[in-house]
Amino acid sequence: MLLFVLSSLLLSPAVAAAAQRQRSVITRGEGFLRASINPISGIPALRRRQISEEVENQKTGTRYGIDIGIGTPAQIITLILDTGSPDLWVNPTCETANVPKECTQYPQFDYTKSTSLNTTGFADILSYGKGNASIEYITDTITIGSAKVKNQILGVNFESYDIPLGILGLSPPMDPNDPDNYPFLLDTMAAEGIIKSRAFSLDLRSVTEPEGAIIFGGLDTGKFSGSLAKLPMLDPSQSPQGFDRYWIVLTGVGLTMPDGTSDKSGTIEVPVFPDSGGTLTRLPTPIFQAFGESFPGAQFDPASGFYIVDCAVGDEAGSVDFYFGSKRIAVPFNDFIWHVDGQTCVLGLLSDDEEPVLGDSFLRAAYVVHDQDNRALHMAQAASCGTNIVSIGSGKNAVPSVTGDCSAAPAPTAVGGGLDATATRQPTNIFTGSGPDATIIGGGPGPAGGRTTATAVGLGPGATSTSKSAAGRSVGLSVGAAVAALVAGVLAL
Ligand SMILES: *[C@@H]1O[C@H](CO)[C@@H](O)[C@H](O)[C@H]1NC(C)=O
Ligand SMILES: *[C@@H]1O[C@H](CO)[C@@H](O)[C@H](O)[C@H]1NC(C)=O
Repeated sequence: MLLFVLSSLLLSPAVAAAAQRQRSVITRGEGFLRASINPISGIPALRRRQISEEVENQKTGTRYGIDIGIGTPAQIITLILDTGSPDLWVNPTCETANVPKECTQYPQFDYTKSTSLNTTGFADILSYGKGNASIEYITDTITIGSAKVKNQILGVNFESYDIPLGILGLSPPMDPNDPDNYPFLLDTMAAEGIIKSRAFSLDLRSVTEPEGAIIFGGLDTGKFSGSLAKLPMLDPSQSPQGFDRYWIVLTGVGLTMPDGTSDKSGTIEVPVFPDSGGTLTRLPTPIFQAFGESFPGAQFDPASGFYIVDCAVGDEAGSVDFYFGSKRIAVPFNDFIWHVDGQTCVLGLLSDDEEPVLGDSFLRAAYVVHDQDNRALHMAQAASCGTNIVSIGSGKNAVPSVTGDCSAAPAPTAVGGGLDATATRQPTNIFTGSGPDATIIGGGPGPAGGRTTATAVGLGPGATSTSKSAAGRSVGLSVGAAVAALVAGVLAL
């Protein structure tokens, strides 16, 4: 701690603030690359409080960050790790970020200083559940630990809204047949032989253990208990909106009380997808109400749409349960409750009948291996009992069917079938106080929305402005025809 205090004094204020969050620690093994990730709080006021607030800070962490190197020499940039979108881009517009102060705490990528950068002349506007970004594509080297990913296409933003950090997307493209799809980071890592197939595992960790990890090309049997259940990804045509995401089928929900008794719903069939860039879980209204109306002491707040709970319930045993066939993922109350600010707690859940999402409030309790090559997720109950990284090969059974090294938490003592997850109802417990202020809620970007073509601003070494008006003037100037053709070739793959 003394060392930390001393080093903060030596750094400029902006750098010191960023340094409060630990940098990703990266290790590389045969066919895999592990990077630690940890939460980023959306509320700067909480970030500034000291030591005793550390755990509180984790609970309010609304996004998960990873630090990677971009360009030559590599500049270390913090990005939101997002399994709900495919693109990698940097340099959000801080003035129009939801919380500008948060945005300015992190360094931006100075593209004028990279000797390996090439411009492409292509630009798009990417939309998210929350916010959007107008980016121009460049190619450059991405460094993750000792691994160098060459000629990765990534975006440099020139106008974004409501997004405080750049994004590292790891989902499949929304439309697999879109001619504008290009090799995303996971594709390039596999193509360049850094990993053997397009697979990675994600472990966000619980609120009491801040440091999670992503392992490209591997999984860690020291981070889960029981078997890894193989869940096929749905075809986009089977999803609510026809977009390709990590869609799987939720077949039941339940609630286990602190005394160990449990209630479970009948069999349901609800397409859902995990999204690490989504702070909250969003489920169809009947399931939202099934949890909210049965959760200890929860009261529905019509103003914010949340179920408000006593923060102290987080200290009790008990879990919110999700079933995928025979696999039960039990989310401890502590991980499912979201600390909106120092005083107010809500269930980390909203109702959504359009596109149900398993956000961070679910993912903190799950170990999820994403296998894009074989279109399957492999899921187990997250736990922590050491480290044993197993690499993921290639081919049909690339993800080994291994069992976690950790011992499983006790199963519920008695399971009843009384949870109604199919009917909507009138909420019975209504909150009448003043609820959370929705305007300070700095949720994650949410899933990718559309992609629309935009006009490039003409970035590149020597470019001095990224404003849109300057953009119009410099358009096309820095785009070499050969490069454009090269990338057009890549884009057409
Ligand atoms: C950029 O592209 C041009 C044309 O293909 C190539 O000659 C040059 O080496 C590239 N520069 C870098 C830094 O990759
Ligand atoms: C991006 O977000 C801003 C702010 O919400 C909005 O005004 C704008 O229309 C959005 N642009 C697109 C292309 O969706």
